[in-house]
Amino acid sequence: MGATSAIIAMSERYGVEGVDDIEVYEQHGGYEGLRRALEMEPTEIIDAVKDAGVRGRGGAGFPTGLKWSFVAQGTGKPIYIVCNADEGEPGTFKDRPLMENDPHQLVEGMIVGGLAINSVQGYISLRGEFRHAGRLLSKAIAQAYEKGYLGADVMGSGKRFDLTLHRAAGAYICGEETALLDSLEGKRGQPRLRPPFPAAKGLYSCPTTVNNVESIAAVPFILRHCVDWWTQWGTEKSTGPKLVGVSGDVANPGNYEVPMGIPMRELIEIAGGMKEGHELKFFCPGGSSTPLLPAEAIDADYTYEAVIEAGSMLGTGAVMIYSDQRCVVDAVLGWTRFYEHESCGKCTPCREGGYWLAQVLQRIETGSGTLADLDLLQEVCDNIFGRSFCALGDALTSPIVAGLEHFREEFEAHVREGRCPLGVTPPRDDIPTLAVRARDHGNAQVPSFTAEPAGQA
Ligand SMILES: Cc1cc2nc3c(=O)[nH]c(=O)nc-3n(C[C@H](O)[C@H](O)[C@H](O)COP(=O)(O)O)c2cc1C
Ligand code: SF4
Repeated sequence: MGATSAIIAMSERYGVEGVDDIEVYEQHGGYEGLRRALEMEPTEIIDAVKDAGVRGRGGAGFPTGLKWSFVAQGTGKPIYIVCNADEGEPGTFKDRPLMENDPHQLVEGMIVGGLAINSVQGYISLRGEFRHAGRLLSKAIAQAYEKGYLGADVMGSGKRFDLTLHRAAGAYICGEETALLDSLEGKRGQPRLRPPFPAAKGLYSCPTTVNNVESIAAVPFILRHCVDWWTQWGTEKSTGPKLVGVSGDVANPGNYEVPMGIPMRELIEIAGGMKEGHELKFFCPGGSSTPLLPAEAIDADYTYEAVIEAGSMLGTGAVMIYSDQRCVVDAVLGWTRFYEHESCGKCTPCREGGYWLAQVLQRIETGSGTLADLDLLQEVCDNIFGRSFCALGDALTSPIVAGLEHFREEFEAHVREGRCPLGVTPPRDDIPTLAVRARDHGNAQVPSFTAEPAGQA
């Protein structure tokens, strides 16, 4: 065991005493990336980000430079850069540590990103519960104004850039970029129909880019050090250092920085190995919305392409490790309850399906499920996946479908034994059936996928 692969790149100032003060930040290379950016044309900044191969760290892995090049120019409308600092995905903790350990890094990234797309106004939409990060960012923004890095004349360049911190209310759906824009506009945060995409019609119907904290914070490093510095890590399609949160049944769960491309098994080693007496059973490579994978997949490389080939996604950099003492049905039920709770209610498959799925899973976990329930889960998931308005609906189905694919035998054992075979949840027989719930809600018609025999509703 050895943390040989952990690196210090974007986390270089983590732990530096007083780095939330602008002078200390400057002494450690701070705002050098911005100085370089001011010597460059906007398109040169975008080209550097493209050459470095930076891919969005918010979940989808879309190339950041390409995204910036799509932002409509010359429309006569203001252009906005918005930082998505919502970080609500279960298991994900890499953006908050970045903002708390090195708040100026994000402020500098926002200014550089603004210069790249000719924006004069940026917003950081921060999850409201991140109060400490909020205090530090407010202070960093105020100091950057005092020092002339922000405002009407950024470092005497004649270019304007203003930055506003917005403390969002904290709903998971407000991390979805168009829901985030609605929430920033003061509306109820619900996803918008796309197209038009934010690059053409985003905040206040103006050209906008929405990027993750880590994607934005990476750019000053690339300008300060050079593209080759960034690409010394990773593979051709998955470049750079990566901030990851490793959680679950490892000895030292925590926030680590690693080079892209290492075998995922090394992520466990970096986190101190499995807890004593625990064997790896399954894991989520990128947060709860990425399909879980069985232990055999742990030797795949930590790259966008290898993880897709293994049947999942890199997602949000949240590596969740589950040992042989965990019940897969219980884990899947936990995530399903989260998505049921966080569904914004705009579309029927997700709003209704989430409820039904949680009920059926709870029935299975507590020992009163039937084998037909397993097919029912799959059927409901098939009716949600690709049919919901935004990706939250797809995310809801991911753990269930992957759980059934890799651990069907464990689901069946719950039914056969009439209890959780791992003893995680005590048996219960008072879970309402689907039909009872439908009846309780004003003679609603019982959906066709109910498992209850006809006539009982
Ligand atoms: C339900 C939902 C929640 C999301 N939450 C976040 C989030 O908290 N932070 C984030 O950066 N992206 C989140 N995303 C992805 C964003 O929609 C968007 O793709 C991302 O902010 C783009 O940034 P990037 O290109 O830098 O990755 C979420 C997506 C969905 C569907
Ligand atoms: S999929 Fe869910 S979260 Fe997304 S719009 Fe539909 S109800 Fe809302």
